[in-house]
Amino acid sequence: MDFCGSTRYTKDMNDGKPAFPEFHNVYIDPTSWNHWKKTGEFRDGTVIVKELTSVGSKEAASGNGYFPGEFNGIAAMVKDSKRFADKPGNWAFFGFESYDAKQGIIQADDACAACHKANAAQDMVFTQYYPVLRAAKPSKK
Ligand code: HEC
Repeated sequence: MDFCGSTRYTKDMNDGKPAFPEFHNVYIDPTSWNHWKKTGEFRDGTVIVKELTSVGSKEAASGNGYFPGEFNGIAAMVKDSKRFADKPGNWAFFGFESYDAKQGIIQADDACAACHKANAAQDMVFTQYYPVLRAAKPSKK
């Protein structure tokens, strides 16, 4: 997978109750990354994986801040016009409790899609938070 972006949320900034209390590192499969660099679009078959890690500490050799702790789970989006013909944007959403696939999918529902559809900048993906994607997007001629 290729790295595509990262965000983080903390308890401090969300009244102790963040909806997503983790660091998020986001990856895209290499074929779709190459397609993005050529077209600026997410191709049919795109897989995007979000890795979640807890906030481990607030200080490091570089100073005070928020630094990753332990793995917290995985969320994924898959765009497939055949398998997910009836889903918005042909995206399916999957949430996993941990890296152990045996623990299975915890959630893959319309609530995921609804928030992404309403708020994400492009094709249900939050490209507004991924400078790596934006920098690689070809300019329209
Ligand atoms: C309340 C709004 C909301 C809901 C509900 C939501 N997400 Fe997201 N999701 C976001 C935001 C905002 C980002 C980008 C920043 C971040 O990582 O938090 C994101 C990022 C992602 C990404 C990385 C690609 C991208 O679009 O940026 C994946 C994969 C993802 N979410 C999967 C899921 C799954 C699976 C569910 C349901 C279990 C879900 N999301 C529910 C708001 C939401």
